[in-house]
Amino acid sequence: MSETFHMPEIATKKERYEALLPQWIALVQHETDWIANLANTAAALKQAMHFFWVGFYLVKDNQLILGPFQGPVACTRIPFDKGVCGACYREKKTIIVPDVEKFPGHIACSSLSKSEIVIPGIKNNAVVFVLDIDSDQLNQFDEVDQFYLEKITTQLFHV
Ligand code: SME
Repeated sequence: MSETFHMPEIATKKERYEALLPQWIALVQHETDWIANLANTAAALKQAMHFFWVGFYLVKDNQLILGPFQGPVACTRIPFDKGVCGACYREKKTIIVPDVEKFPGHIACSSLSKSEIVIPGIKNNAVVFVLDIDSDQLNQFDEVDQFYLEKITTQLFHV
């Protein structure tokens, strides 16, 4: 596996995800260690898609605890009833927040974060992690992100 991803220079978001997917699969498919794969997934998404912050919060001890991530330091523990991550956990579905200041209860780990998407990782009908991605610009996430990020979180259980 090479150290960098080969991404088209000028491309739509969909084209970037399409270019990333096979390279991401090559990166994780022969590794059985869960944390190693979460760590490389966060790095791959940050590097290929230029997100501001990408990370996993893992369900542990009845709360969400910071796992592998890329970006500035972040809050370590999120109760299930707090933040966008808590809402994603409770509702078991992807949440897109175009403007974090308008989301009641949003937890600001960084004042630079402006919009956010959180995707649940569901195994045996239970959320075992959430994948949280932040942008430093408003309104950065849409159904294209949701489609590919849900594909990635689902696929993580099948490598
Ligand atoms: N904004 C999240 C907290 C995690 S940080 O963005 C990394 C939330 O409201 O749950």
